[in-house]
Amino acid sequence: MDMRDDVLEVLVSAEEIQKRTAELGEEIGRDYGDRNPLLICVLRGAVVFLSDLMRSIPVHVMVDFMGVSSYGGTNMDSSGVIKITRDVDTNIAHHDVIIVEDIVDTGLTMKALVDLLNTRGPSSIAICTFLSKPQRRKVDVDIRYCGFEVPNKFVIGYGLDYDENYRNLPFVGVLKPEVYEKRKEEKG
Ligand code: IMP
Repeated sequence: MDMRDDVLEVLVSAEEIQKRTAELGEEIGRDYGDRNPLLICVLRGAVVFLSDLMRSIPVHVMVDFMGVSSYGGTNMDSSGVIKITRDVDTNIAHHDVIIVEDIVDTGLTMKALVDLLNTRGPSSIAICTFLSKPQRRKVDVDIRYCGFEVPNKFVIGYGLDYDENYRNLPFVGVLKPEVYEKRKEEKG
């Protein structure tokens, strides 16, 4: 079965993604120069974005990973109370941190994450998100670098999942409605 058959519409093509990640990498390089920023990748969705982004940054960076899940959310909505499932190994005090995220939706997850990291004394924190859904925002989030703004639709691909599937699609798309119906039936 080809998972591309489940896609109703492609919102951002693989070519557009490659072009934009290259631009963002250059911009980060210009902004940070010799400051050696620490990229903190939010697992699991941002892994694909990180992998392309970091290779487009022409200055030295460090990389670490943070696992975050939201308490009591569904697989399509977040609750805003986050649980750290994996913490960074790096002591971030006095580091210039760039949080690399897959998508800022309501902004609740990102706000909680920034608040937490700020308690650890970094020199600065900037947010770099692959996607943003501004229409869904419930709290203000200061996004320094954004790949693409997307409409208020549930999107999959390029790291983003529905029920842990579709992360490996090379583009961003929207699923056919029957995919959700089928999954609900399977889960009973
Ligand atoms: P927020 O707290 O509402 O901003 O949600 C952030 C998290 O919800 C993201 O890191 C994603 O894991 C997930 N999420 C939000 N919208 C989508 C979507 O359209 N597709 C896949 N995951 C999403």
